Amino acid sequence: MLAGRHLLEPADLTVEEMEEIFSLAEKIIVDPSAFSEVCHGKILATLFFEPSTRTRLSFESAMLRLGGKTLGFAEASSSSATKGESLADTIRVVSSYTDIIAMRNPKEGAAVLASKYSSVPIINAGDGGHHHPTQTLTDLLTIRAYKGGFSGLTIGVCGDLKFGRTVHSLAKAMSRYPDNKFVLISPKELQIPEYITEQVFKKSGVEFVEEERLENVIGDLDVLYMTRVQKERFFNEQDYIRLKDSYILDKQKMKNAKPSMIVLHPLPRVNEISPEVDDDPRAAYFKQVKYGMFVRMALMAKLTGSI
Ligand code: CP
Repeated sequence: MLAGRHLLEPADLTVEEMEEIFSLAEKIIVDPSAFSEVCHGKILATLFFEPSTRTRLSFESAMLRLGGKTLGFAEASSSSATKGESLADTIRVVSSYTDIIAMRNPKEGAAVLASKYSSVPIINAGDGGHHHPTQTLTDLLTIRAYKGGFSGLTIGVCGDLKFGRTVHSLAKAMSRYPDNKFVLISPKELQIPEYITEQVFKKSGVEFVEEERLENVIGDLDVLYMTRVQKERFFNEQDYIRLKDSYILDKQKMKNAKPSMIVLHPLPRVNEISPEVDDDPRAAYFKQVKYGMFVRMALMAKLTGSI
C-alpha cells in the first residue's frame, strides 16, 4: 500500500512496489489522457532549497498532467528560511496547504527530518550527497524500456563515483536483481565509497571491477551511466579543475561500444558527453528525462491515493 507513504530513499520501496510504479508509468505512457484527471483537486508543493531544472519541473509537469495543481519555491532565498524559519516549521505550514511535497535540500537527512513534521507524503528530491530516489526510479524505468528488465546486465558507471548520489542509488537498486555486473570507471580520487563495494556489492554477491580508462571497458557494457563531476561537493577548487574533464564520451569512443549499449546520464551534463553523441541512437539521456516525468506521475498518483 503506497498511499500516504513518504519516499525518502530508494530502499523505502520493495521490488514489488517498484514494479507497481513502473507498470503504472508504462500504462500512463501508452495512454496519458486516461490519467489526466486522476489527481484533480490535489496540490503538490515543490520546495527547492537547491537549484534544479529537471526534477522540479518534471514534478510540476507530472502533477499538472494528472489534473492537479502546484505551488512552491525554486530557491531558499524566496522562502522564510532566509528569516531563520526552521525546516520543521516550514514543513508543518506547507503540509497544511498541500497534499504532497517534493523537496530538495543541500543537507543530508533533511528529507527524513521533514517527514517527521509533515502531515502529507514527502518525496525526497535530493538531499546533499545522500539520496535522490525519483532519479533512481527514472533510471530504472529507462533501463526497463530499453533492455526489457533489470537482470543479466553489465553496467558501467563513469565519472564522479564518490559524490554522485545517483550512482550510489543505482548501484543499490540494481543489486537487488540477479546476474548484474558493475564496471566502476573513475579516477582514483573519485572512486565509489567503500560502503557500496563492501555493504552493497559484496553482500548481494554482485560482481564488480574498478577501472580508470573508459576505452578499456566500453565494449563490454550494456549500459553506460555517465556522471558529472560534482563541483558543488568539492572543498578545493584546484582538485575540481584537475578532475572535471577526466572523461569525455565522444563518437570515437562510441565506435567501440556494442550496437545495443545505451548511454544514460542523470543530467545536467557539462563536458562528459560530447554533443556529437546526442544523435547516436544509443544516446538515451534525453528520453530518460521524459521517463522521469512519467515515473513521477505514477509515483504521485500512488502516494496521494488517487489510484
Ligand atoms: N537529474 C537532476 O536531478 O537534475 P536537476 O538537478 O536539474 O533536477
